[in-house]
Amino acid sequence: MCYGDIKVLRNVTFQVNPGEKIGIIGRSGAGKSSIIQAIFRMADLSGDILIDDININSVAIAELRNSLAIIPQNPTVFKGTLRNNLDIYNLKPDEVLWSALNSVSFLQIYNFLFLYYKFGLCTLI
Ligand SMILES: Nc1ncnc2c1ncn2[C@@H]1O[C@H](COP(=O)(O)OP(=O)(O)OP(=O)(O)O)[C@@H](O)[C@H]1O
Ligand SMILES: [Mg+2]
Repeated sequence: MCYGDIKVLRNVTFQVNPGEKIGIIGRSGAGKSSIIQAIFRMADLSGDILIDDININSVAIAELRNSLAIIPQNPTVFKGTLRNNLDIYNLKPDEVLWSALNSVSFLQIYNFLFLYYKFGLCTLI
């Protein structure tokens, strides 16, 4: 993979099995973010990345990126509503978002509780 003329991630090969959750660790500059950039096709890539035996270069970029999810090192919250942050394209019904919030014990965050019950998923954050 390259940033302009600078080559990074040389000879990296790994396999993730279906259903596996993996974490990528390494010192600063090791290439963790670059792996993510490669998978999302945000940088030039000279090798091949296959997902379910499909080369990611053969998939439309929007389809590829919509099919992937990551948990980055630093959490980011965008200005807007809770719903915007959870479901930017407004595709999921409220129940699914409530369920996701429940699964991370969101409702136990005391300071949010009042606003949340008053404004629900329209709570501004
Ligand atoms: N935009 C860029 N242009 C040029 N080189 C870059 C760029 N981004 C990263 N690099 C280089 O690519 C290599 C891998 O960096 P990367 O950011 O992937 O590491 P990282 O493991 O995510 O580090 P950190 O823990 O600091 O986030 C490093 O040598 C870095 O200097
Ligand atoms: Mg990084």
